[in-house]
Amino acid sequence: MYQVIARKYRPQSFAELIGQEHVRTTIENAITQNRIAHGYIFSGQRGTGKTTVARILARCLNCVEGPTTQPCGKCASCLEITGGNTVDVIEIDAASNRGINEMRELRENVRYRPARDRYKVFIVDEAHQITSEAFNALLKTLEEPPEWVVFILCTTEAHKIPTTIASRCQQFSFRSVDFAEVAGRMEWICKQEGIEADPEALSVLAQAGEGSVRDSLSALDQAIACCGLKIDAAEVRGLLGMFSLDSLHEVTQALAAEDSKRMLEMVMELERNGRNLQHFCRELARYFRNLLVAKVAGANTRLIAASGPEQQRLAEIAAGFSEEDLTRYLQLTLDLFKDLQFSLQPRLHLEIGLLRLVQAGKLVSIEEALGELSGSGSGSAPPIKKATQAGKPASPPPAPSPAFAAAPAPAPSASWKDRLHSALLEAGMQFTADAVEHSQITETNNELLFVTPEEFKLSLNEKDILKIVQKIAGRPMRIRITLGAPDAAKVTKVKPAQDDVSERALAHPEVQRFQEMFPDAQVRVVRNLKE
Ligand SMILES: Nc1ncnc2c1ncn2[C@@H]1O[C@H](COP(=O)(O)OP(=O)(O)O)[C@@H](O)[C@H]1O
Ligand SMILES: [Mg+2]
Ligand SMILES: [Zn+2]
Repeated sequence: MYQVIARKYRPQSFAELIGQEHVRTTIENAITQNRIAHGYIFSGQRGTGKTTVARILARCLNCVEGPTTQPCGKCASCLEITGGNTVDVIEIDAASNRGINEMRELRENVRYRPARDRYKVFIVDEAHQITSEAFNALLKTLEEPPEWVVFILCTTEAHKIPTTIASRCQQFSFRSVDFAEVAGRMEWICKQEGIEADPEALSVLAQAGEGSVRDSLSALDQAIACCGLKIDAAEVRGLLGMFSLDSLHEVTQALAAEDSKRMLEMVMELERNGRNLQHFCRELARYFRNLLVAKVAGANTRLIAASGPEQQRLAEIAAGFSEEDLTRYLQLTLDLFKDLQFSLQPRLHLEIGLLRLVQAGKLVSIEEALGELSGSGSGSAPPIKKATQAGKPASPPPAPSPAFAAAPAPAPSASWKDRLHSALLEAGMQFTADAVEHSQITETNNELLFVTPEEFKLSLNEKDILKIVQKIAGRPMRIRITLGAPDAAKVTKVKPAQDDVSERALAHPEVQRFQEMFPDAQVRVVRNLKE
């Protein structure tokens, strides 16, 4: 009979375990120092070794040569624990034995000494599913545990274990296992099984598990069932609904070329090949996430679940985009993924989503635009196009030319408006600063009253303003915002046109280039800093 790989290769000793070093070391120390707790909670993602370690611990405690950190694996106790049929190591699946009766029985059971072994070990799987009455019964036992009893509660949802129980247990959180370790373990298993799998195929399988060893091993089972003794990366991808770096890179290529048509063709191909569009979107989100991490952390990071050459490739592709671009793409793709889950027209949604990516790529960051301005000097430089910017390291924003610099730090006597305005600018809240600039602000006691024109409604972030107001005032204050036309006489802003400074500023070639670049932009305020 075929035994699934995950079962067949369940580690029988700590030496075989991958990852979870912190758990292993602490438990080994407890055993050597003979300080075994009566209750343990093993929590963490599924398939990361909770049940496995629980059984290893049971072996360590009950091996004839024990308690030991290296159980012999040959004595009756060791062998029976592996087989799961020993009277003194009792496995309870709380998902199906949730009742108070089972726990009462357990309490009875607990009172008797082990039949043969040193300890009675109760391994409770899915422990968060125990009912509260059953937890109470368990609590009674944990309050006065017989010396021979060890409880191991395994759960994916530690927060659902009552604190009364948790406080009497030693808790270990199992982490998702590193990509490289999972891939290595699978390579070893394949060798044992006489299966040929190239590194790329192993990498696909390791990625598929997302940190769960069991899920990766189940994927390996599937791959063997599908491919036989020679596992092929492309076939595995097809099987698991995953996409190669090359196919995902087509999206980034289309983005770099601002090629909307290519995007639409891609969706058509996906449909024609019967690929799941939701899977594609999920993989695309993962791809952008990896590009972003590669951009931030460089190639060769444990933060990316991918083989060495793949990481190299990701870093190369990421070099063609700015961090802001990648963040935006990731956000848009995640939104798209959410939409797709409920969409009755996934193809349409995917098309729109990919076109949005292309459009989003056309945004030019202010820093870049300013960098370009100061770099080119005269107005003869070609218009900025995102695609041609790709790959260039972002240049630092140039020192602002005097006429357009933000207002200098206001004198202490400056008005609320001035102080708020420059504090908001300093905090990078340009829109809110604009709104403040166009508002009428009056102070009464500990309250600032804002009268703000309707069109700035969306820019006014009340919370942000309040925070800054309090910071400036150095005491608690309140703010009240009403929408409406401010009393024109009291809004002291510089009006563009009319005066000479504004005219000169608007005629300035850099300002004109800026307006060419951002045709929808308006010059709202011109301030003469020399005044
Ligand atoms: N840390 C690990 N090291 C090696 N194999 C593991 C590890 N975690 C899980 N596995 C594999 O996955 C299978 C299921 O693991 P298990 O311990 O039952 O996970 P869970 O955390 O869900 O209890 C094991 O039989 C084993 O093959
Ligand atoms: Mg388990
Ligand atoms: Zn033994």
